[in-house]
Amino acid sequence: METRIFRIDPDNIDKKSILQCADILKSGGTVAFPTETVYGLGANALDESAIKKIFTAKGRPSDNPLILHVHSFDEIKKYANNIPKIAGTLAHFFCPGPLSMIFEKKPMVPDSATGGLSTAAFRIPSDKIAMALIEATGLPIAAPSANLSGKPSTTDGSHVIEDLAGRVDAIIDSGRSVIGLESTVLDLTVSPIEILRPGGISFNEIKMVVPDVRKAFIHDAGNAPKSPGMKYRHYSPESPLIIVKGSISQVAARINELSADDFTTGILCSDETISLYNSNNKISAGSRSNPSEIASNIFHALRLFDKTGVSAIYSEYFNIGELEEAVMNRLIKASDKIIDTD
Ligand code: TXA
Ligand code: MG
Repeated sequence: METRIFRIDPDNIDKKSILQCADILKSGGTVAFPTETVYGLGANALDESAIKKIFTAKGRPSDNPLILHVHSFDEIKKYANNIPKIAGTLAHFFCPGPLSMIFEKKPMVPDSATGGLSTAAFRIPSDKIAMALIEATGLPIAAPSANLSGKPSTTDGSHVIEDLAGRVDAIIDSGRSVIGLESTVLDLTVSPIEILRPGGISFNEIKMVVPDVRKAFIHDAGNAPKSPGMKYRHYSPESPLIIVKGSISQVAARINELSADDFTTGILCSDETISLYNSNNKISAGSRSNPSEIASNIFHALRLFDKTGVSAIYSEYFNIGELEEAVMNRLIKASDKIIDTD
């Protein structure tokens, strides 16, 4: 299939391109577009055959539900039932932004969009291009992350082109994503409400608005994951990823020892620690004093290692406060092994 590429400047949005992409979505096609978290692969959430195209293009298991992207909280009311009062309060603080909220779906939302579940996730993205596109369609746009299933999410238009050119109708490339990690997924159909995936909005931020909130993403052996997407191996680079935990000096010593005989190993570290490693193939995700910088570079770094063809990647454990949960959730899911030096 031929994929049309639209390069759109986020500071000077070309309305004609947005209208062309909206037309593709309205006529049942697929368009990958930027959001502030990661790129999404969009299709009309009310059109069964358009939804199927998303699953085919990504190679995604059909029981993994999609997030519906809308332009306002009022729009959610058209497609969801039993929206609790606290949802309005949460939306007041965090929407538009990196928060996806799960409600009971109305029958007009096809089962294929929600992997057969009776609930659906909704998100109001803050990215201006995403907003303009959704508004121009007047539709809820189902959009999982715009990567091949199992690969790291895409945080740059060039990543989307690598993964999806030839598999979708159009790709909007507007450069790098600002947040670089997916949204926090919050289930509002249960009491207390539950975080199913940590993301751009932290547990403490949600707790400040709704004190009674649980983390459902830390599951012990024997507890089935609540979010279908949490059971699959995810975000993985092509080479094995090994996370090394412990004090900075112990971590650096162990990684140097493990990579001593192999110049092709990659090392994922921080500005503060990069000089401790002997390998030539090291990438700093950013400064430990700037957690959002680290968060925004994680997927990008994993894709860079894939390009240089490393034999293995050793990553530091990033204990960086509020965003640690989201960053380490993605890295641990992508990893093959965790070594604890303590
Ligand atoms: O930031 C984001 O959320 C990005 C951008 C494009 O908006 N989207 C994204 O979508 O990360 P995806 O499909 O890669 O991840 C959606 C997650 C999956 O783990 C899925 O299982 C969960 O949300 N999810 C969606 N609907 C759900 C539902 N009704 N119940 C439980 N989990 C749900
Ligand atoms: Mg994804």
